[in-house]
Amino acid sequence: MTDIDQRTRQAWEQASTKHVREYDELLAEARTADLFPVERELLDPILRTGPRVVHPQSGHGIDDVALVRAGAVAVVGLDYSTTAVGAAQRRADELGVPCRYLVAVLPSTPLADGCADLVYTGKGALNWLGDLTAWAREMARLLRPGGHLFVHEAHPLVPVFSWDADEPRVRADRGYFAEKHVNDTFPGHGAVERQHTLAQTVMAVLDAGLELVDLREHPEPFWRPDGVDAAVWDGRLPNTYSLLARRS
Ligand SMILES: C[S@@+](CC[C@H](N)C(=O)[O-])C[C@H]1O[C@@H](n2cnc3c(N)ncnc32)[C@H](O)[C@@H]1O
Repeated sequence: MTDIDQRTRQAWEQASTKHVREYDELLAEARTADLFPVERELLDPILRTGPRVVHPQSGHGIDDVALVRAGAVAVVGLDYSTTAVGAAQRRADELGVPCRYLVAVLPSTPLADGCADLVYTGKGALNWLGDLTAWAREMARLLRPGGHLFVHEAHPLVPVFSWDADEPRVRADRGYFAEKHVNDTFPGHGAVERQHTLAQTVMAVLDAGLELVDLREHPEPFWRPDGVDAAVWDGRLPNTYSLLARRS
């Protein structure tokens, strides 16, 4: 890991203590949590087949409970925060859902070739990875032939927009084609976000040998921090995208 990535990992380790502090709230949330409607639309046909799911960068793991409720037979969550992995495992055990959590430093994973029918990731995941080519190859390796990769992620334009309430502005300190920037929201603590354009992301997936099934851009963000009401969320600009790809 580079020094930057090491510092970012420490930031996530520190920030993930939130999952422990807010354990009870997250447990209550997990009991009723669902995926976003667009995720259900794209994934329901796959989830109905009872897939084995791998969830890289699983964080608090709330989505894993939703994936099981929607049909997944088992979920393996991977995250480099030992705190996040511990809290997610405790929650899954308490809920009695078939989710198992492992510490892993992406883009490497400790899992076998073809172990997944579905790799599910996003919601603040790809922006921590410097090498999307290596990431996409690893995701393809995890999939069995015919398996799917699904990403629901912040649109790469998001770092460029301000969160002003009156109107969206292009931040003077950011650029769409920049390689990285220092995170100033969550997890903070000097974490460095990597930037990948939409084209770079799609090309990494295609170059890994996956075929594109669906790609959509959405106006809704996946996360609205408390107390923020940004004009950039008023429906005119992209805040997220969904990508579904298949291993042939
Ligand atoms: C925004 S959070 C969680 C995203 C998750 N999809 C969710 O909705 O809860 C991003 C997670 O990625 C993890 N992470 C970041 N870089 C990583 C890496 N290189 N390897 C493994 N985990 C990583 C962090 O520890 C953090 O838990």
